[in-house]
Amino acid sequence: MIIAIDGPAASGKGTIARQIAAVYGLHHLDTGLLYRAVAKAVLDAGYLPSDVARATAAAAALDPKEFDDNTLKLPAITEAASVVAAVPQVREALMNYQRQFAMRPPGAVLDGRDIGTVIAPGADVKLFVIATPEVRAARRAIELRSRGEAADEREVLADLLRRDERDARRSAAPLKAAPDAHLLDTTHLGIDAAFRAAVDIIEAVRTGRKRS
Ligand code: CDP
Repeated sequence: MIIAIDGPAASGKGTIARQIAAVYGLHHLDTGLLYRAVAKAVLDAGYLPSDVARATAAAAALDPKEFDDNTLKLPAITEAASVVAAVPQVREALMNYQRQFAMRPPGAVLDGRDIGTVIAPGADVKLFVIATPEVRAARRAIELRSRGEAADEREVLADLLRRDERDARRSAAPLKAAPDAHLLDTTHLGIDAAFRAAVDIIEAVRTGRKRS
C-alpha cells in the first residue's frame, strides 16, 4: 500500500505520516528532507540556493545518510529548501529515489508537496492536509522553541506564507491537491484527533466505503 500525504508547511502532515506508517507497518519518507539536504549541501559549499547548476549537482549526489542531520530543520535551510525545490532539474534528480522508496514492500507513506500529483499518482490513498496559516505558525513556533530556537510567531507566519506562495506558484510540481485527494483540515484537531481522522479516511478508502 502506498499512502501520499501532501500539504502546506506545518499543516501536520509529517506527524500524521509517521503515525500512519507505524500503525500500518509501512516505510515512511519525509520528502522535505531531500530538498533540505540539497539546500544544506549548496549552502555549506558557499553557493546560493538559486544556483541551478550547483543545486542540480547536489541533488544528483544526494546521500540518504544525510537525512538524519538535525541541522536540516534550521530556518535558514527551510527557506533555502523551498528555493532549490523550485528548480525542475533538482526535482527530476530526486524523483527516482522517491519512487523506488514508495515501491519497497510492504509499501510506504510519503509526505511532501507533490506525492499525490507527481511522485505516486497511483497511490492507494491520498491525503491533502491543511490548517489555517495562524494555527500552522503557532505550531511551528512551538516546534522551534522546543528545539531551543527563538521564534517570533509573526515572523514564523510571514516565513510560512512566503514559502507556501513560492511552493504553490512554481511551475515544477507546485503544491496542490490531487483531484482524488481527501482533504483533511487539522485546524481544530489535536495530534490524536488528526491521526484518527486520517485513519478513518484510509479505512473508508480501503473498504470502498464513502466517508461518513
Ligand atoms: O515541515 P515543512 O512543511 O515546513 O517543510 P518540508 O516538508 O520539510 O519542506 C521544505 C520545503 O521543501 C518546502 O517548502 C518545499 O519547497 C519543498 N518540498 C517540495 O517541494 N516537495 C516535497 N515533496 C517536499 C518538500
